[in-house]
Amino acid sequence: MFIINFKNYEEIAGTNSIRLAKAASKIAKKHKTRIVVCPPLHLISEVAKLPVVVFSQHVDNAKIGSSTGFAVPELLKTSNVGGSLVNHSEHRISYQEIEEIIFRLRNLKMVSVLCVRDVDEATAYAKLGPDFIAIEPPELIGSGKAVSQEKPEIITDSVKAVKEAGNATRLLCGAGIISGEDVRKALDLGADGILVASGIVKSKDWEKAIEEFSLAFKNAGKI
Ligand code: G3P
Repeated sequence: MFIINFKNYEEIAGTNSIRLAKAASKIAKKHKTRIVVCPPLHLISEVAKLPVVVFSQHVDNAKIGSSTGFAVPELLKTSNVGGSLVNHSEHRISYQEIEEIIFRLRNLKMVSVLCVRDVDEATAYAKLGPDFIAIEPPELIGSGKAVSQEKPEIITDSVKAVKEAGNATRLLCGAGIISGEDVRKALDLGADGILVASGIVKSKDWEKAIEEFSLAFKNAGKI
């Protein structure tokens, strides 16, 4: 699982989100890697019309109907959105909201990627049975210093914590990943995939950067 979080970077404003999603779709098809894109909410339905897997950067536990300004999972699903990041470091929510959202996404058969900042949170939150736990040390986000190189033990300890939960939850990792080597190292440490933002969004050649990451998956025999 290779998730590209577009965040709200200027580089993906307007039609550039479509351009980046098309680059991801082309490389995913070429190398048969599972690439997921997370555009900003206001662009999500446009991007979801493309042949690419789209997740939301966040969802709210708001009701359908008379609620305003929320990202409602049922409506996102209707717009062909397949899942969502939950509790990203840059949009953290309460334990109760997390519990309710994971339950609601599961009932909708939408993929949940529950973001955590340390091994203790990985241990606590894996028990909720999200599809994925994504460990991202906040201090490395956007740093260009990959979690797999700087803090390899946080990945191996999180893999262990997720396994000990005894459910189907799998581990992803992110923060500072900027090269195929960073990806290879993360997969070697036991992660089932990665989340990346600036390493792709801010690169000069999106297709080249996405292809480098995809080849690391392919060479590791993972999709
Ligand atoms: O969601 C992934 C993101 O938080 C990682 O950011 O820029 O370090 O790849 P970055």
